[in-house]
Amino acid sequence: MKIDILTLFPDMFNWVFDESIIKRAISNNLVEIKLHNFRDYTKDPHGKVDDTPYGGGAGMVLTPQPIFDCVESLRKKKTKVILLTPSGIPYKQNIAYDLSKEEHLIIICGHYEGFDERICSIVDMELSIGDYVLTGGELPAMVLVDSIIRLIPGVISEKSHLEDSFNNHLLDYPAYTRPRVFKGMEVPEVLLNGDHAKIREWRYNESFKRTRERRPDLLKGDKNND
Ligand code: ADE
Repeated sequence: MKIDILTLFPDMFNWVFDESIIKRAISNNLVEIKLHNFRDYTKDPHGKVDDTPYGGGAGMVLTPQPIFDCVESLRKKKTKVILLTPSGIPYKQNIAYDLSKEEHLIIICGHYEGFDERICSIVDMELSIGDYVLTGGELPAMVLVDSIIRLIPGVISEKSHLEDSFNNHLLDYPAYTRPRVFKGMEVPEVLLNGDHAKIREWRYNESFKRTRERRPDLLKGDKNND
């Protein structure tokens, strides 16, 4: 997979892509990530990429020209273009699965007060990572890239993500490791006796209980969680 990220702050990403699982996926050629500063594409003589909003209002708005030109120079036959914005549809694990099967993603990080609406005409999907407003799309882009890359075949074992939270509309079950007793807290007996049918049943019940307590919306089959 190839991922092109359009941002005004490419340096923000370096530490994320240079650690742990993402770093390994890049060095094993399972994913190629390129950062593009769309300021390099502006035709404004002063290097501007934003302007005041028509109709008045606070803040600056990203102009369409630099982002259009940058996207068009990178677009291939099978490219999916994603715009990160708090007004997008909620980003969920099922979308991460779908995106992990794509050949080429272009991810646009919004900034300032917003972007000129005409930018949406070259975008396939507008995504929000949650109901809060960040200063820009850079942190959301890192969230997207991390959650997508771990699902690319060969990056981590398929078994580990089959058991992730949100598969089958359930949160993950509780996990324990050594020591068996820590500060008086014991590992549940069922996990120690090697009865795998019982362990599976216990895990399912714990997942269900946890989901009912913390995220009943997942059990109701809320359309947004599909
Ligand atoms: N940009 C600012 N806030 C955002 C959010 N919550 N999701 C996606 N992009 C954003």
